[in-house]
Amino acid sequence: MKRYSTPTRFAENRPLSASFFKTAGTHIAGGVNGNLRYFTPFPITFKKAKDAWLVDLDGNPYVDYLLSYGALMLGHGHPVIKEAVQNVWDQLGTSAFGAAHPMEWEMALELHKLYPSMEKMRFTNSGLEATLFALRLGLAFTGKTHVGKFEGHYHGSHDHVLVSVNPDLDQAGNPTAPEAVPETLRLPDYYLKHTVVLPFNDLPACEKILTKMKDQIGIVILEPFQSGYIAADQEFITGLRDITKQLDILLVFDEVKTGCRITLGGAQQFYHVQPDLTALGKVVGGGFPIGVVGGRGDILEFSSPQHAGKHEDIVFHSGTFNGNPISMAAGLATIRYLSQSNRFEDMVHRTQMLRKGIETLAQDYGVPFKTIGEGTIFNVVATNRKMTNYRDVASLQKETRMALDYLLMDHGVYSKPLNRFSLSDAHGKREIEITLDGFERSFSKLKSNIPL
Ligand SMILES: Cc1ncc(COP(=O)(O)O)c(C=O)c1O
Repeated sequence: MKRYSTPTRFAENRPLSASFFKTAGTHIAGGVNGNLRYFTPFPITFKKAKDAWLVDLDGNPYVDYLLSYGALMLGHGHPVIKEAVQNVWDQLGTSAFGAAHPMEWEMALELHKLYPSMEKMRFTNSGLEATLFALRLGLAFTGKTHVGKFEGHYHGSHDHVLVSVNPDLDQAGNPTAPEAVPETLRLPDYYLKHTVVLPFNDLPACEKILTKMKDQIGIVILEPFQSGYIAADQEFITGLRDITKQLDILLVFDEVKTGCRITLGGAQQFYHVQPDLTALGKVVGGGFPIGVVGGRGDILEFSSPQHAGKHEDIVFHSGTFNGNPISMAAGLATIRYLSQSNRFEDMVHRTQMLRKGIETLAQDYGVPFKTIGEGTIFNVVATNRKMTNYRDVASLQKETRMALDYLLMDHGVYSKPLNRFSLSDAHGKREIEITLDGFERSFSKLKSNIPL
């Protein structure tokens, strides 16, 4: 297949995005509010969105598979969410109490129904805050000093977990005992020394590392589906649960991506495995900022201010907008909508239709793509091999997928280059047909090596 280098049509079709990116860079560092939002030659700037659709500054429409990194499970501007948020204004009169209100309790009940492992919980404003608090709780509860995390797994942008998210293979060391590689400039040495990197889907290697460091490692965090689409093998995740229990190490499922997307009850329902703690985010905020830490009551109670004693005896957690009524209302509306009969199953069915369509087209055009994933998330990968961990992802030939991504954007399909695909309730038959048409045109160009 041709080596594509400069996506010239991409730039030609988006002059306003190009010039906005330059303007934005004058006061916004790098022109983006998040490094993951950047891609070359410039990220697309959007001016509006509706249902499953995005429109960029230049007026180009796209079927949206990024969906704000999977958060918008009902699509853009769903009526039930608009109504729920409007009701907060009309009935409660405010967007924030900075104090307790009944909707927090309603949300806790709904989440407990879907995630029985979350006996108690706390709300935060992002997934990053949720994983940070989960780890703080776990270390305080166990009295140990080290965190175990898996190579290639992302848990948000805080120091303990900005380790070996996307390491260069020449620094990553032995696949069965990976090195801790910093993900950010001058990460304090403390975090590199206190974060132990584990190999995903390799139970014997994990058992060896965890057993050796059982007195130091207090808590292990993982994405049960790496990057939302690479499944843990059932034996791996069951085995990890057993080993961590035996070694008195807490286990956290970071379900910020997978929550309400693999099944409504997340990956833990899919695998029938109960973690000690769970981090949620994205979908459960219905398009507004949220994070949730939930789990064993005895662990969560470590943050209870009702415990007598000095403040250093309590795990600190606070946040101005924690549990704010807008996020609660939008999240509740989303969960209740998705819990109506067959809604979630229909979305999964549409996801499967789309994946099948892509794979059939890939075969017809002789291009090397397949889809992997579960529930309402998948990715399109240029390989026939089984994908089991970070090393498999890192050794993929990314150029072919990048070439596909630029073609897809020119044919009205957006997931951001190299990103996974998430579906929403607004992705109906029409959107799927348009998407498959975009894939067909893109595959046809890739096949005939037409330059971008
Ligand atoms: C698995 C996982 N954990 C944590 C986070 C961080 O969430 P947020 O971006 O809300 O801080 C993300 C974000 O993509 C995520 O995918």
